[in-house]
Amino acid sequence: MEILRKKEYNQLKSNLKRSLGLYELVFIGVGGIIGAGIFVITGQAAATYAGPAIILSFIFSAVAIGITALVYAEFSSSFPISGSAYSYTYATLGEILAWLVAWNILLEYGVAAAAVSTGWSGYLRAFLENNFGFKLPIELTGAYDPSKGTFIDLFAFLGIIVIFTLLTIGIKESARVNSFIVSLKIMILLVFVFVGLRYVNLHNIFSDFLPFGWQGVWTAASLVVFAYLGFDAVSTLAEETKDPQKTLPKGLIVSLGISTILYIAVSFVLVGILNYKEYEGKPDALAYAMYKVNEKWVADFISVGAVITITSVMLVMGIGFTRVLYALSRDGLFFKSFSEIHPRFNTPYKATITGGIFLSVLAGVLPLKVLAELVNIGTLFAYFMVGIAAVVIRKREDYSPVFRIPLQNILLPLNLIFLLFIMAGLPMDTWVRFAIWGFIGMLIYAFYGYKNSLLSKM
Ligand code: ALA
Repeated sequence: MEILRKKEYNQLKSNLKRSLGLYELVFIGVGGIIGAGIFVITGQAAATYAGPAIILSFIFSAVAIGITALVYAEFSSSFPISGSAYSYTYATLGEILAWLVAWNILLEYGVAAAAVSTGWSGYLRAFLENNFGFKLPIELTGAYDPSKGTFIDLFAFLGIIVIFTLLTIGIKESARVNSFIVSLKIMILLVFVFVGLRYVNLHNIFSDFLPFGWQGVWTAASLVVFAYLGFDAVSTLAEETKDPQKTLPKGLIVSLGISTILYIAVSFVLVGILNYKEYEGKPDALAYAMYKVNEKWVADFISVGAVITITSVMLVMGIGFTRVLYALSRDGLFFKSFSEIHPRFNTPYKATITGGIFLSVLAGVLPLKVLAELVNIGTLFAYFMVGIAAVVIRKREDYSPVFRIPLQNILLPLNLIFLLFIMAGLPMDTWVRFAIWGFIGMLIYAFYGYKNSLLSKM
């Protein structure tokens, strides 16, 4: 069947320069992973869903996403090409499923940029208010919700506009800037953990460890999984990495490993310092905890640091978004103009501008929780399809990856089960939005991609 046509990548010649080693990959990976998830969502998920057991939600998500990262590591060692999940499925499951995966990765990177912008806005507002007494009118401080008197999250809206403007004119995120941002990010979390440990009161954690039961731990896991997403951006750099078949698997695993250790430590300290209920409605949970124990300097450091460092996630996600749009358009599956390159700026400017307009509106009018849940379901679906591709590809006789997932008979099925389990924890509304998104994607494929695909012209 034509919709199951597969792309061969054997002859792929890349024009990109191989300049990245393990060190750079890990920095880019951590740069894309650590962001609004830990800075913002942890507090909200603890307050409303899991209570102190948020620590377990983080551990469970880490196990599930860790196995997925091993699957990605294996694929990236056998298909070191920049399309990542999209290319893995194009080569194994065929065009229509690859399109659906790519359509959901667009959702991952695009809506994640919007979601992270919303989290960033929360830290910025709190910082301006605490230090300069500057307050935006209430109407401009939150997603559209007339019952609370909020209409638009102005900073979130502007954040996306600025990031996508930079992407259009071709910002070169130099390795030094990225290293600085990532070092700062790691430092903030370490400072939070080490200063915070002195204030941890085990009573806060163990007197009421499971206030919302296991159901709450599960729901929170499907929300905080957001904090781990983005590790896959590392695999999109395959064509720019030296010795990719060995370096990519290590890069993926090390960056996720570092983030996981930090997350578990941070969530433990967060619910240890204050009672989980205190984080209700606080978008700057880490800084807030430090204010409450009178560590004002640390709180300010965290706030400023979060405002600076969360921007790197917006940027990495923004780059991922435009890269996938570009790849789809180049393969003929999406509107041709999206792969047009600006003569002076050298960027796919039409894709970037269209994306920027669309996502800035989303960031302005939808709350972080809704955006994050939407990102999660799309991304988990893409991970799930890659998990299936990993099972299918084993039937090929010529398949010999450099890195092979250990205990494959156990871990491959477990990967699929865990991912489905986390997806099932998301609310019904999110599933409905996901179905609508998938339906729109299928219409575009039926009326555009199917006919215009480069493979149809071969
Ligand atoms: N993992 C990224 C974050 O937490 C999306 O901001």
